[in-house]
This record gives sequence, structure tokens and C-alpha cells, in this order.
Amino acid sequence: MYKQLLRPLFFQFDPEKIHHFTFSLIKSTSKIPGIPSLFKSLYVIEDERLERELFGLKFKNPVGLAAGFDKNAVLYNELANFGFGFIEIGTVTPKGQAGNPKKRLFRLKDDKGIINRMGFNNEGLEAAISQLKKNKGKLIIGGNIGKNTQTKPEDYTKDYLECFNALHPYVDYFVLNVSCPNVGSHAKLNDKDYLEELIAAVQKANNTFNVQKPILLKIAPDLNNNQLDEIVDLVKETNLDGVIASNTSTDRSHLKASKERLEEIGNGGLSGQPIKDKSTSVIKYLSEKSNKSFPIIGVGGIHSANDALEKIEAGADLVQIYTGFIYEGPSLIKQINKAILKSI
Ligand SMILES: Cc1cc2nc3c(=O)[nH]c(=O)nc-3n(C[C@H](O)[C@H](O)[C@H](O)COP(=O)(O)O)c2cc1C
Repeated sequence: MYKQLLRPLFFQFDPEKIHHFTFSLIKSTSKIPGIPSLFKSLYVIEDERLERELFGLKFKNPVGLAAGFDKNAVLYNELANFGFGFIEIGTVTPKGQAGNPKKRLFRLKDDKGIINRMGFNNEGLEAAISQLKKNKGKLIIGGNIGKNTQTKPEDYTKDYLECFNALHPYVDYFVLNVSCPNVGSHAKLNDKDYLEELIAAVQKANNTFNVQKPILLKIAPDLNNNQLDEIVDLVKETNLDGVIASNTSTDRSHLKASKERLEEIGNGGLSGQPIKDKSTSVIKYLSEKSNKSFPIIGVGGIHSANDALEKIEAGADLVQIYTGFIYEGPSLIKQINKAILKSI
């Protein structure tokens, strides 16, 4: 029904407007008695064989919603009824910020891709916390954190720490997002020495709490092998809990979209089917180079059960979807979980 009816209708409209519209639609329909159970009966698979235990957390199944969809943590309770095993909120920054000027979100229909330069638009830490206080505890919630665009390089760590400390009681794991291509400041966030310093600072803060939360690093799919070697060393040296591979890409090769269309769209991070192989290669490289010594969450271009199995085969312990959720609809989650069960 999604691909035949809703998607053709939704795709007639501006992508960002439709994003907000579907949020309101899911939020309001979920208030109607019987609808949450209907969604659950359609989309949720409960099976012990799908459960995964990773960095001390028990996931109901290995299919998660990637960061950027529920940036302000307003819909995770309702989205739990679509069959996800975990949901990552954010990227949250200390202060709310508008992000880049609109238009900043574009569909590449023929490529089954999206280009976005949202620029960490979010309502800020306080707003996210007030939403997270409404957590009905159905799922594992990840907190993806970043820095405000206006923050000076010498204060980056302060921003991450502010988010980390304030969100600590409310999320199950953390993701240091250092790979968004839309917020500038890339050089520093790609520098191994700085990342070491950032991770150490966040880990120190983690140790001040009674219970420590897992900390993961989210990386770009555009890193070369030398940079990936550095990531492997970094994870080993810092004892980081895991890596999310990958964020969106700045690469525009092998797209069906015309040069003119791409020029018209301009800068931004590419997601969806066109980055599938790139992100799978990154997962495979990390997994092999590290002798599978740390957990990897695989994300990037999963539009089918097979795409997810490919990521798992490459070394991913869990997977996440974003663009595939937009193009294929909520049944994708169930399809992936069913295929995982079949592959056992
Ligand atoms: C519109 C949009 C906004 C996103 N915002 C964020 C974000 O705020 N933080 C983040 O870590 N990743 C963000 N992402 C990246 C996704 O979490 C994911 O890593 C990437 O899109 C690749 O997965 P996909 O091909 O399944 O979409 C965003 C992606 C899209 C399409």
C-alpha cells in the first residue's frame, strides 16, 4: 500500500514539507484507539532469534532507524510500532538551531537517493530532553550528538560534553557524529588527534556516572583506506564501544540524475541506494582490518532485505535505515527481520 498509494502521493510534494506532514500523520493516527495495535500487528516481528546483545544492551531485533529522521525525539514512541529494534534520535546540538536555508532536501527518484544539507536543524538539548522524559521504554534509544554550527573550534568538545552529560540519563547509547558533510568544520573532526581528545573527554564524563553508556563514532563513507586504518587504531586505542558506518556521501559519481539537476541541487550529503556499496565496503574494511574486534552498525543504502544481509555479511552487527524507509516504506523493517530469520 505504501509504494502503490502513499509514496506516489507524498512524492508530489516538497520533501521537507512531507517529512513534517508524515510526522503529524503518524502522531495523530497513533492516538486513535486500535491504530498502534494495528501497526504492531502489521509490522512487528517478535522472535528471540532476532535479539542481539551488544555493548551491554539487549536489542529486540537488529534493524534500527538511523539518525536525522527523529531529530527532536518527538516520534520514537510511535515509530516503535513499525518494528524497529532501536531508534537513534538527533543529531542534537546544545542550542536549537535553524539549520541551512531552505530548500535543503532533494529526492533523486531515479537513483532512489536523497541529497540533504539540512545542517543540524534541531530544537536543541532541552527540547529533546523534555521529549525523552515521555519515553514509554519500548525500545533502545540512541542519542546522536553534535556541535552547534556557530561554535568555535576550541569549544567543539564543550558542545559534545554538554549534550552527553545532559542526555546521559535518557538514552541507552551515544553516537559522536563527526561526519556530517553539511556543517563545515570537517578538517578538525577528521583529525585523529582531535578525535582522541574528544573521545577521552567524553569517556571521562561517562565515568562520573554510576552507569556507563556505550559510545560510538559515526563516520563518513568517503574515507580512504589510510583514514579507515586510523579509525581502527583510534577505536582500539581509546576502547571505543563501536562505529556507525556510514553517514551521507559527498561523492556524485555513477548517478542517473543529470549533471544539470545535480548542479541545481548543489552541496549536500547523498544517501540511499547510490551509497550502498560504498558504505558496505567501509564496513568490510573495518571489520577485516580490526579482526572484528569492535561492533559495527551498518547503514547506507539499505532498500531491501538483501541489502541488509549484505551489510551483515560484511561485518555489521546491527543495521539502520533512513532513505530506504522513505522509498520502500515501513514494511522494509519486517522484510529484513524475516530474511534474517530465514538465513539462520
Ligand atoms: C534528511 C537526512 C537527514 C539526516 N540527518 C542526520 C543527522 O542529523 N545525524 C546523523 O548522524 N545522520 C543524519 N543523516 C544520515 C543518516 O542517518 C544515514 O547515516 C545516511 O542517510 C545513510 O543511510 P541511508 O542510505 O539509509 O539513508 C541524515 C540523512 C538524511 C537523508
